[in-house]
Amino acid sequence: MKVESPTFRLHGIVGNKQKGGLKPESMETFTPQILRFDSLPSTNLEAARRAIEGAAEGLCVVAAEQTAGRGRLQREWVSPKSAGLYFSIILRPGFEQNGWPLLTLMAAIAVHDALLDSCALKTDIKWPNDILINEKKLCGILAETVETPHGRAVVVGIGINLTSSSFPADLYRVASSVESATGKSPDAEVILGALVHALLMQYQLLQHDRGPEVIVGEWCARSSYCEGKRVRVIESNRTLEGTTRGLQSDGALRVETDDGDIRIIRAGDVSVVRPCEIISQNGS
Ligand code: BTN
Repeated sequence: MKVESPTFRLHGIVGNKQKGGLKPESMETFTPQILRFDSLPSTNLEAARRAIEGAAEGLCVVAAEQTAGRGRLQREWVSPKSAGLYFSIILRPGFEQNGWPLLTLMAAIAVHDALLDSCALKTDIKWPNDILINEKKLCGILAETVETPHGRAVVVGIGINLTSSSFPADLYRVASSVESATGKSPDAEVILGALVHALLMQYQLLQHDRGPEVIVGEWCARSSYCEGKRVRVIESNRTLEGTTRGLQSDGALRVETDDGDIRIIRAGDVSVVRPCEIISQNGS
């Protein structure tokens, strides 16, 4: 295991640049600590263990491979050696827990910005936090809460497909990688540096008085799923179709069904409904 403490100088709060938007505030310097491992069952599990032991906010765990990588909905996250970036960060948010779902939106914004800055790769965000390129998944985010002696913490785990060997061949229709999207061999270290920097920037934004509003706005600016997208939503006890109509202030997705009702989605699997599916459903 290697330990590093890179220093990132954050450039104050930028927020939206409209009149009346957030003004840059005092410069703050964070000192994230990065723990690197050759192999772990799961970086989320390791980060949770360290959070329970009292690790500070900002501790990052990175592994070259995971032998029991965890995805959403109890799924496995296949994590072969050096084919993906497997990363987790401990956060100890000081704000009310009803705002914590915004942490996953914040993480998605950070991944989006990190890939843009480090690889010139412009990605899309599918609600709440899948990072897509050409509608194929390039990165998944799993945020988990952990009870610790110092209060409840959050571990945000991020898995970025660097090469196409990071996912099983039968997923090639729905998954992509940085390498196939850019046509270049990605530099994991450069992406990692950009990711940690972007996370700290967005986390700082979120903690501002108007943080929730700003994060929702920043998310919508980067996601084609925010407004006007025809989607199917699978929830635990129902499936619905409709058109997206923005986010609530807590990050929930608003979906307008064909009878004009607005449904508020707080958990569920969202997928795009392609025009050909709409045509065939209509029988034309
Ligand atoms: C998803 O299902 O979309 C979320 C996948 C999250 C995977 C990452 S890889 C690093 C971290 N450690 C884990 O075990 N899972 C997350």
